[in-house]
Amino acid sequence: MFSLLRSLSNVLLCATAASAVYIVPGGRWRDTDGNLVNAHAGSIVFEKGLFWWFGEYKPEGQVEGGGIAVYSSPNLATWTHHGLALEPVEGHPYISPKMIIQRPKVVHSEETGQYHMWWHADNSTYGLLLQGFATADQIQGPYEFVNATAPLGNWSQDFGMFTDYKDGRSYALYSNGDRREGRDVYLTSFNEAVTGLDEVVHRFDKFDLEAPTVVQTDKSYYALMSHKTGYRPNNVVAFRADKLSGPWSQPWIIAPLNTRTFNSQSGFNLRIEGTKKTTHLYIGDQWDSNSLWESRYIWLPLEIDDEKKDLSLSWHDVYDLDVVTGEWEAVEGTTYYGKDATTAGNAWKQEAKFASDGVILTGIYGNDSTVTFSGVQGSGGKQWVSFYYQNIDDMGFGDQPMGAPDRIGGAWQLRRIASVVVNGKTDEVHSLYQRDSHKGIILSTPLELELEAGSDNTITIGGLFNGVDYKGADIDKIVVYPAEGSGGYPTRV
Ligand SMILES: *[C@@H]1O[C@H](CO)[C@@H](O)[C@H](O)[C@H]1NC(C)=O
Ligand SMILES: *[C@@H]1O[C@H](CO)[C@@H](O)[C@H](O)[C@H]1NC(C)=O
Ligand SMILES: *[C@@H]1O[C@H](CO)[C@@H](O)[C@H](O)[C@H]1NC(C)=O
Ligand SMILES: *[C@@H]1O[C@H](CO)[C@@H](O)[C@H](O)[C@H]1NC(C)=O
Repeated sequence: MFSLLRSLSNVLLCATAASAVYIVPGGRWRDTDGNLVNAHAGSIVFEKGLFWWFGEYKPEGQVEGGGIAVYSSPNLATWTHHGLALEPVEGHPYISPKMIIQRPKVVHSEETGQYHMWWHADNSTYGLLLQGFATADQIQGPYEFVNATAPLGNWSQDFGMFTDYKDGRSYALYSNGDRREGRDVYLTSFNEAVTGLDEVVHRFDKFDLEAPTVVQTDKSYYALMSHKTGYRPNNVVAFRADKLSGPWSQPWIIAPLNTRTFNSQSGFNLRIEGTKKTTHLYIGDQWDSNSLWESRYIWLPLEIDDEKKDLSLSWHDVYDLDVVTGEWEAVEGTTYYGKDATTAGNAWKQEAKFASDGVILTGIYGNDSTVTFSGVQGSGGKQWVSFYYQNIDDMGFGDQPMGAPDRIGGAWQLRRIASVVVNGKTDEVHSLYQRDSHKGIILSTPLELELEAGSDNTITIGGLFNGVDYKGADIDKIVVYPAEGSGGYPTRV
């Protein structure tokens, strides 16, 4: 009875949630119960007409111990939570709440008839460097622990997995650690049953990369990996080859320089073979080391040109993806520029050659030095609004080349937090996380806001406390997107 009621309520919630099924990278994604989707460093499997998303469940305030969450979706936008696929077991040598259970991947094994989950199994100081293995009869679990092993006797970090769509063979991808004798990334075939590893197919020597994933097209394999900068993002690279065994090309950076892959880390990709088109989605993580559990997800269509042997990533605030046809389309919004906003207090319009019309809004601080965009057109209801900003606090380690130190008051800061108030409703302050970008690099972060119908809306941006001060980042412009179901965009269930 309970489960019947539960599935009925899920159906109802699905129906209401269907009014917001755009894919909005970096937004706060909510499941059909209204909770934040908590499935980090995830992977996705298409099975029985649904997409199944497995990822690290991060309890608030913790790094380890959460187990593996599982969600399902018919369209990659509306997600139903199915609890934990792999639950931590108190006192267990490998899956106790004290252990690291990261980067889960699931495949169906024809030979055993079961679903096999593999992940990076470790202790809290990353001293074991093993691969965990669990099995289940149903895709959503519960998964039962089988073993944690050293792949062909080696170390294994940041586990990735890839299944070749042409022959169904699965491969493990893992770096062999940070030690001097390691720093390689291995591409190793699984045995037919996917119960253990077979042989090393290729070793990406001494690049010291992590978070690997392989994108397969009709003609090429592209291996995507990030540099090792902890939870800080960096410029993800790709290698290309005709065969998995190589020869592999030199690596290149896939997204515009200094955007640090739009503030994300690689880890997985999804091949959507539609009736009209095959689309490959980059499935990345926007880690928030201040609060891991609310880290966001950056999913974007990869642009691949096999003739030019090229793969790259472009930013889209909001896009509409049809998982049946495989087609996608960037959604067009209405832009409101900083030069037309009004400033209050010490906020002002500063010359900035890299900003729209050469003007950026700066000096945004607390609730009295604000900027306001007026005459904003709304359709009456929730709409995604993207805030284009520059935050030059920077986030590199002092002695590493990923950027300059970002010290505010002596603390390393990952982000500023702006306040966003719609139509002067100061009792409803939205917090906008503005992660470090780079000097002259403008990135955007979306918020879902309730706008009134008509063109009289105002959006006011101030600064909230980020642990150090009340500074908001510099604002270039905002873009307001149509509510889904309006403007010719169909509502999908
Ligand atoms: C993790 O494992 C390594 C290797 O066995 C060990 O040296 C280290 O002390 C372990 N860390 C913890 C927290 O137990
Ligand atoms: C677990 O892994 C160890 C080390 O590789 C191996 O000796 C053992 O047979 C495995 N156990 C199971 C149940 O697969
Ligand atoms: C383990 O990794 C090291 C460093 O890459 C390599 O020299 C060694 O051959 C590897 N061993 C196996 C069994 O793959
Ligand atoms: C404005 O910010 C100050 C702290 O700087 C706070 O004490 C005050 O309550 C805020 N006022 C409003 C209306 O939010």
